[in-house]
Amino acid sequence: MNKKMAYMAMAMVMGLSVTACGGNSSDNTTPAASSNTENAAVSTESKDSTEVANKDKPLVWFNRQPSSSATGELDMAALSFNDGTYYVGFDANQGAELQGTMVKDYIEANIDQIDRNGDGIIGYVLAIGDIGHNDSIARTRGVRKALNTGVEKDGAINSDPIGTNTDGSSSIVQDGTIEVGGKTYIIRELASQEMKNSAGATWDAATAGNAVGTWSSSFGDSIDVVVSNNDGMGMSMFNAWSKDNNVPTFGYDANSDAVAAIAEGYGGTISQHADVQAYLTLRVLRNTLDGVDIDTGIGTADEAGNVLSDDVYVYKADERSYYALNVAVTADNYQEFTDSTKVYAPVANQLDESSHARKKVWLNIYNAADNFLSSTYQPLLQNYDDLLNLDIDYIGGDGQTESNITNRLGNPSQYDAFAINMVKTDNAASYTSLLSQ
Ligand code: BGC
Ligand code: CA
Repeated sequence: MNKKMAYMAMAMVMGLSVTACGGNSSDNTTPAASSNTENAAVSTESKDSTEVANKDKPLVWFNRQPSSSATGELDMAALSFNDGTYYVGFDANQGAELQGTMVKDYIEANIDQIDRNGDGIIGYVLAIGDIGHNDSIARTRGVRKALNTGVEKDGAINSDPIGTNTDGSSSIVQDGTIEVGGKTYIIRELASQEMKNSAGATWDAATAGNAVGTWSSSFGDSIDVVVSNNDGMGMSMFNAWSKDNNVPTFGYDANSDAVAAIAEGYGGTISQHADVQAYLTLRVLRNTLDGVDIDTGIGTADEAGNVLSDDVYVYKADERSYYALNVAVTADNYQEFTDSTKVYAPVANQLDESSHARKKVWLNIYNAADNFLSSTYQPLLQNYDDLLNLDIDYIGGDGQTESNITNRLGNPSQYDAFAINMVKTDNAASYTSLLSQ
């Protein structure tokens, strides 16, 4: 008889004796209580990790931060669901500023040929991803801020789409000015739109391709620059119109296809360091599963040598959030970014399975058709999961309905940890309620 079975047999005997004593008078309180204590110790002994309550298992939100889509306020209940809960994303404001500056720098450097119709106005159109998503809002603001086309509303730059504004009469944006070589030029946001398809999917690349078609057929000569909240939409616009018309187009994400397009006239993009984010997404789960300090293999080197330097991420403890830092990718440096699915070398060391046992993770991608998530983020996760000894079930959503995803979290007890990418940032409770059952 092995040790565990011996404990079980003992427990059974004690269980019986407790039951037998149960109906007796209070004289039996002391022995019964001590038997109960023994019993509790035994049941702990026979427990393994699969018996951890779902509500206590590590949980990471990524790419879409639990927050109000109306006000942007963080959903701290979701972010601190349990002690092993974190968010992983990127620094939206720092990235937005980089994107705006990248566009502005390009205009300044090319001022002599940028005004295609010579009317003295530098016109741009803007593809907006999701009006209720903090990252999308930040990028719209970043561009309007750098180009001086923003208008304040409630203490921040208004990030609403304008529809069309070819005559400059919109009250959501204003005509900006930019000074180059002692000369002042007007900059106008000619049009902007949330790229949402009829089924409700946001950041929709096909919608952006159609929009640039519509815009260019009515005021194409006025469009000097195309800007997009991401590369999926940006590349769709580039391929549909701007490439053939030599109009610089700027996106965000540094997906491999967009980086390659820089050689063909794509203006530039921003790397949100998805290689660092994908690592952090899985690393925080790994650390909580291992019961080690959360900083292990992040700010503090682990035994395999994995460590991140503080120029690639920040951690904000009060938000329980890790944010990767962004880098501009332009004609000057794009050669270093040609493969967006390559793991980040400082954190590419295999963990030893004897001290980091294989664990099962449930992970969803909110929209299997999303360009960034499917062509950059998920391939990166798939590279890191092996290095971190995590067996991951990847669930792809339709980008529109939360239930399409939550329906596939029917048996959370099968998993040791969860990584969640919500359709709508308000909907964290649809997931945590399943884990709390
Ligand atoms: C990316 C977008 C993507 C979105 C999905 C953003 O961080 O830049 O390309 O569509 O995440 O949530
Ligand atoms: Ca012009």
